[in-house]
Amino acid sequence: MAKPKTQGHIPDLTIVVPTFNERENIRPLVALLEAALSDVAWEVVFVDDDSPDGTAKEVRALGREKSYVRVVHRIGRRGLAGACIEGVLSSVAPIVAVMDADLQHDETRLPVMLGEFRKDQTVDLVICSRNVEDGSSGTGLSAFRKWGSDLATSMARRALKITATDPMSGFFMVKRESFNTVVLSLQQQGFKILADMLSASKGAWNIREVGYTFRERQFGESKMDSAVTVEFLSLLAVRMTGGLVSIRFILFMIVGLSGLAVDLLVLKGLLATVIGTFWVAKTVSVIAAMTSNFVLNNSLTYRDRSLRGAAFFRGLLSFYAVCAVGAVANVSVASAVFGVLNSQYVLLAGFTGALVGALWNFVASSLVTWKA
Ligand code: GDD
Ligand code: MN
Repeated sequence: MAKPKTQGHIPDLTIVVPTFNERENIRPLVALLEAALSDVAWEVVFVDDDSPDGTAKEVRALGREKSYVRVVHRIGRRGLAGACIEGVLSSVAPIVAVMDADLQHDETRLPVMLGEFRKDQTVDLVICSRNVEDGSSGTGLSAFRKWGSDLATSMARRALKITATDPMSGFFMVKRESFNTVVLSLQQQGFKILADMLSASKGAWNIREVGYTFRERQFGESKMDSAVTVEFLSLLAVRMTGGLVSIRFILFMIVGLSGLAVDLLVLKGLLATVIGTFWVAKTVSVIAAMTSNFVLNNSLTYRDRSLRGAAFFRGLLSFYAVCAVGAVANVSVASAVFGVLNSQYVLLAGFTGALVGALWNFVASSLVTWKA
C-alpha cells in the first residue's frame, strides 16, 4: 500500500466543543486556542447538532485550513450532554477537555489543567471552577442565573454526594480511561454532564479544581432555558434511584401528572358552564389532557426530536391512538386486579391500572410517535 502523503496529526489533547448556532464564535475560539496551546499537540472537535446558522459548514471550511479542527455533524438530534459524549468518544487522545464555544470559558486555563495531569498521573478529572479561591462567575451570569446556579450546585452536592465546588461547570478535562469507565451510565439527555459524571464516579475519582472567571458571551445567545432546569431535577432523580429510570421517563411521568390536572380542571369547568352531560364533558376533558400531554412531551420530554409542521399533526394522531390503547389497558388491568383482591383495595387496583397504562403510553409513544 502506498504511504499516505501527509503524516496525520496525533493529538495528546482533544478539546470537545458542543455547538448550536455558534458560527461567529468558531474562528475567534480557534485563534484563542492556538495562542493558549502553543506547546501542546492538540485538536478541537466541534460537535454540532445541524445548527441552522451553518456552524458545521463554517467548521468544515476551517478544517480545510487547519488539520487540528474537526467536526462531528449530528442530524436529527439535540442535546448538550449527548453532544459532549459523542465528541469525547470520537477522540484518540488520552486527555479530553470539554468547553463552550461562546468564549465564556477561559482558554488560558487549559494548559494549567493539563499541568495537573502531568504533575500527578493518578488524576482522573480536572474541573474549571467558578467557586474556588481564584475563580468567579464574573459578569457571565445575571443575578437570577447566578442564584439558580448556586441553588443547583448545593442540591447536586447534597443529593448526589458530590464534593467538587462547581459540579455545574461546563468546563473540565478528563482522562479518557476514566471517562470510559462511566460512559455507559451517563444520561445523553440534559445539560449537566459534569454533575452526572461526578455522580457516576461514586467518589472514587482523584479530582482537581482550577479557578477561572466566567466571561460574558461574545456572539449568539444562551441555550439555557426552563426545560434545562426540569431536566436537571430529573437527572437528580435518575441518580437517586440508582439509574433505574431515565430522564425521559421522569419527564414523561411529570407530564402525565399535569395531564391529570388538565383533565379534572376541564371536566369541572365544562360541567359548571356549557356541557351538562357527564360523559360528553369527560370525553372533551380527556381529549384536552391528551393534547396538552402531547404538546408538553413534544417540547420537553422529546425536545431533542421535537415534531414540527405536518409531522406534528401526524404525531398528535398517533399519540391519541397510543393513549386509547393505554386507557383500555388501564381499565382492564385495574378490573382484573380488583377482581382478585378484596374490594377494600379499590385504590390499589386503580393505581395498578394507571401505572400499566402509563408504562404502555411511554413505551409505545417512544416507538411510534417519537421514534428515533
Ligand atoms: N451540540 C449541541 N447541542 N450543543 C449545544 C446544545 C445542543 O443541544 N445546547 C447548547 N449547546 C452548546 C452551545 O452552543 C455552547 O457552546 C455550549 O453548549 C453551552 O451552551 P450555552 O447556551 O452557552 O450555555 P450557558 O452559557 O448558559 O451555560 C454553560 O456554561 C455554564 C458554566 O460553565 C453550560 O456549559 C453550563 O452547563 C454551565 O453551567
Ligand atoms: Mn455560554
